[in-house]
Amino acid sequence: MNVLVIDGSRRAKSNTGTIARGLEARLVAVGATVDLWRVPNWSAAPEDLDAALTKLAVCDAVVLVAPVYLDELPAVTQRALEGLYARRDELGESAPRFYGIAHSGFPEPLQRKAELRTMKFFAASMGWPWQGGVGFGGTSPIDGRPLEEAGMFSKQLRKCLPLVVADMAAGWPFSAETVARCDRSPFPIPLKVMIWTVNARTRKTARAQGLDLEARVYAGEAPAGECRQEVGAAPRRSHICP
Ligand SMILES: Cc1cc2nc3c(=O)[nH]c(=O)nc-3n(C[C@H](O)[C@H](O)[C@H](O)COP(=O)(O)O)c2cc1C
Repeated sequence: MNVLVIDGSRRAKSNTGTIARGLEARLVAVGATVDLWRVPNWSAAPEDLDAALTKLAVCDAVVLVAPVYLDELPAVTQRALEGLYARRDELGESAPRFYGIAHSGFPEPLQRKAELRTMKFFAASMGWPWQGGVGFGGTSPIDGRPLEEAGMFSKQLRKCLPLVVADMAAGWPFSAETVARCDRSPFPIPLKVMIWTVNARTRKTARAQGLDLEARVYAGEAPAGECRQEVGAAPRRSHICP
C-alpha cells in the first residue's frame, strides 16, 4: 500500500507533526510505503504543491492529519486543499482512498465535527472515495513531543493509531468501533467535569485579561459608548449591540 500522509499544521513543535510521524511509523511497520508531506505556509506558490501532486497521482490512500483551529481546519491547510483542488486535472484518473484525522485541544467530539465534514466535502469535490474520519481530543499537552515521550497525554493515540492503521491496511473505511474508540476523552475524569473545569478556567483567564467572551467578533464596532451592555452590575467591554 502506497500512502501519502498530509501534515496539516505549520506550527513549530506541532502536535500534528507528532501524530503524522506516529502514524507513518505504524504504517511502515505493516509494510506500507509512506510519504509525509507538510502543507506549505500561507505565502506558498502553486509549485509548492508539486510534491504532493506527484505522490497523489500514484498513491492508494491519503490521510489528512490536522488540528482544529477556531472550530475548523487551519487557514494554511484550507489553502493547500484549495490549491490541490484547482490543479485536480493533473491527477488524471487517480482517486486515492481519503481518510481524515482531526485533533483538538478540547476533548469533546463536537469540536472536530465541522473539520471532519470539511474533509468529507473535499474528498467529494476531488472525486475521491471518503473513508471516514476519526478524531482525537486533548492533544495540546503533547507539546510536539514524540508519542512515546508524551506519557499519559498520548496514551489514547498510542492505543488507537493501530486501529486506524489496521482499517487502512485492510483497505476499509474506518469502522464504527475505530471512530468510537478514537473519540474517547484521554482525560481520566468524566467529560462533563472536564468541560466545566476548562470553561471555569477560561472564564477566569478572560476576567484577568479583561476579555469579553460574549463579544461577536465579526459584528463590527458600534460608536464608542452607544451600545454598552450591562450584565448584572458589571459593564462589559463589548460595544456590540444585542
Ligand atoms: C489558533 C488556535 C486555535 C485553536 N482552536 C481550537 C478550537 O476551536 N477547539 C479546540 O478544541 N482546540 C483548539 N485549539 C487547540 C489545538 O487544536 C490543539 O492545541 C492542537 O494540539 C494543536 O495542534 P498543532 O500543534 O499541530 O497546531 C486551537 C489552537 C490554536 C493555536
